[in-house]
Amino acid sequence: MNKQTVRDVDVAGKRVLVRVDFNVPLDKATGAVADDVRIRAALPTITYLREQGAAVILCSHLGRPDGKVMDRLRLAPVAARLSELTGLPVATTADCIGPDVEAVARSLAPGGLLLLENLRFHPEEEANDAGFARALAALADVYVNDAFGTAHRAHASTEGVARLLPAVAGFLMEKELEFLGSAVANPARPFAAITGGAKVSGKIGVLRHLLDKVDVLLIGGGMANTFLLAQGREIGDSLVERDQLDTAREILARSEDGRPRLELPVDAVIADAFDAGASTRVIDLAAEPVPAGWRMMDIGPETVRRYAQVLATARTVVWNGPMGVFEMAPFAAGTLDLARAVAALDAVTIVGGGETAQAVEEAGVAAQITHVSTGGGASLEFLEGRELPGVAALNDR
Ligand code: 3PG
Repeated sequence: MNKQTVRDVDVAGKRVLVRVDFNVPLDKATGAVADDVRIRAALPTITYLREQGAAVILCSHLGRPDGKVMDRLRLAPVAARLSELTGLPVATTADCIGPDVEAVARSLAPGGLLLLENLRFHPEEEANDAGFARALAALADVYVNDAFGTAHRAHASTEGVARLLPAVAGFLMEKELEFLGSAVANPARPFAAITGGAKVSGKIGVLRHLLDKVDVLLIGGGMANTFLLAQGREIGDSLVERDQLDTAREILARSEDGRPRLELPVDAVIADAFDAGASTRVIDLAAEPVPAGWRMMDIGPETVRRYAQVLATARTVVWNGPMGVFEMAPFAAGTLDLARAVAALDAVTIVGGGETAQAVEEAGVAAQITHVSTGGGASLEFLEGRELPGVAALNDR
């Protein structure tokens, strides 16, 4: 990585502002943290900084309060979970900037932990306002960005403040960039990409960026429907993006010579309504059209078997996007079975964040994946080959 990390700065006796991505799901009934993966992922950086004698001032957003104070998006439950995980007291403040917060930050002892209130209670955060960035910078001597999940946003706490203080990457940021970066730049081959999710339009950037780099491209999820229609298949009432048919045709044409090899579903779970209680059946797509009134909701078992077979020889696999409507139990098998197949591979396996990360968790195989990204939108933009503003702003090595 060409950016400095926490190893490159002396933080002993200093106050360090650490941008983390503690944008975690909260339990609707209790308000407690429902999934603490992102909090645990930041612990190596927090522990290291404390051990080096830094006073650690953490800042994050939670949800999208749109510049207004919203009680249900306060970071108190996150502070409570962090305190449980570290076994240490975590101080909190009622705001993230201002004289009161500065006083608390100044009195924080080396090794102490402070979590500021939700950055997005201020509209200036998302506007990357220079004054707001200065107010954040006033809290600390050094800035660390460990919020890979938010690195695609050019906000005051990810971009603006990095221009004002010595700015380095945390260990999570470093790990994400190394895995996602080297997987694409320097993959062990054969290199396979699995792309899913509802829409081609959401994945065009990734498809175009990866097409030249991968040996095999496996497509699933709703976006496969547009490819199947482009091939002339009857897809009934399946979700489709007609304005993406040309893109699908172009990608099909580019892979005609088998470089990369492109695989589309050969069977599908179809349903007579977009509903978990709908009637369902599995059809062989080569033998049978999807009838009118029916729609494809998941890849079928034969597709899973075939994709697992194609992946068996791969040495690097990057997966982004589910294979079907996996949030509805009758349409989850394709995604979950493929997750198990990917986890069993003797390969470097990298799973994009968001829904794909959720799928490998649900399948119970996250621990067998080489790297599960904590960034949804960020990993997608990174896999599109785009520069992430939160990374660009850090000090070069
Ligand atoms: C995420 O959950 O993807 C990040 O925390 C970024 O959140 P945002 O999409 O609201 O900017």
